[in-house]
Amino acid sequence: MTVVVTGAAGFIGYHTAEALLRSGRAVVGIDNVNDYYDTRLKEARLERLQAFAAFRFVRADIADRAAMAAVFDGKRDVTEIVHLAAQAGVRYSLIDPYAYVHSNVLGHLTLLEVARSLPGLRHFVYASSSSVYGDTENAPFRETDRADKPVSLYAATKRADELISHVYGHLHGIPQTGLRFFTAYGPWGRPDMAYFAFARAIVEGAPITIYDQGRLQRDFTYIDDVVAGVLAVLQRPPAASSPTRVLNVGNRRAESVAYLVELLERELGRKAIIRHAAREAADVRVTCASTDALEALVGHAPRTDLAAGIARFVAWFRGWHRPAIKSA
Ligand SMILES: NC(=O)c1ccc[n+]([C@@H]2O[C@H](COP(=O)([O-])OP(=O)(O)OC[C@H]3O[C@@H](n4cnc5c(N)ncnc54)[C@H](O)[C@@H]3O)[C@@H](O)[C@H]2O)c1
Repeated sequence: MTVVVTGAAGFIGYHTAEALLRSGRAVVGIDNVNDYYDTRLKEARLERLQAFAAFRFVRADIADRAAMAAVFDGKRDVTEIVHLAAQAGVRYSLIDPYAYVHSNVLGHLTLLEVARSLPGLRHFVYASSSSVYGDTENAPFRETDRADKPVSLYAATKRADELISHVYGHLHGIPQTGLRFFTAYGPWGRPDMAYFAFARAIVEGAPITIYDQGRLQRDFTYIDDVVAGVLAVLQRPPAASSPTRVLNVGNRRAESVAYLVELLERELGRKAIIRHAAREAADVRVTCASTDALEALVGHAPRTDLAAGIARFVAWFRGWHRPAIKSA
């Protein structure tokens, strides 16, 4: 009855693994702890997971076939896989496209291949992304909308994962759910994401870059809501007759980046120094989830509003970023 969580040193993976451990589950975490962002943050998350006796950690690359075969070999007790390891971030996919194909496409395929050999596997839940919807203003986005015009390689790899998963459901009957996350944020978050990078710049008195006059809108989803969605879905594998599906995990509201900055300024008690820039071609204008399908399946959907979530993020950030706060 073990759950394997890939990307366990990452933001969503850490919170998911911790929630599973708290609920009494045994968790094997896999992560290569790469240096896409500050590894001290990843190591600190892992340290907190290692405080649980039921947590075991494997430092490995999910695209390494031999390593994955060794981790999963003969594991009759693995009943669920929560696959969250990936090369995340839209803008970085213009800098290192190969990292995306390696981790997101080859890594995803490698895990599905090992999943085929697990006799006790009940559900394979994996991370997709709101970015698969592309640059559309047809909000709120529904799972039935077209998702065939991605504007970043990141989005293309996430859509590829959904299609590969569909094939593995069709050919091998692996029950799978792809979760299209919408801008997850919160304590222990990702330093490359705007809310975190802005907070750091604001306390350090450094400028922040705002695209398109702050008019870009995102559906910001608080991490506890994301994890509640993951855990609830995990308990409800799709029926054998239709083994694959995708679901949005979002907050059902599009909020402007200008409003995000306002909230951060208020919580940090300091004004941002703003530089303006034009929107980048890989950035979509808006994301906004319909969560009807999630709600119909699990009976609830995210509800934390951005002001409350940012207040909780800043409370954590003050502890994590102490030296800079002191000098602010
Ligand atoms: N945070 C968001 O807003 C968001 C939105 C949409 C989708 N997602 C997806 O959710 C998942 C989790 O995102 P996150 O925000 O926690 O990102 P994260 O970068 O914090 O976590 C990903 C983890 O995966 C690990 N990893 C990357 N490549 C690996 C590989 N080849 N082998 C082993 N480990 C590897 C990284 O070291 C990292 O710890 C990702 O699949 C991401 O694409 C996140």
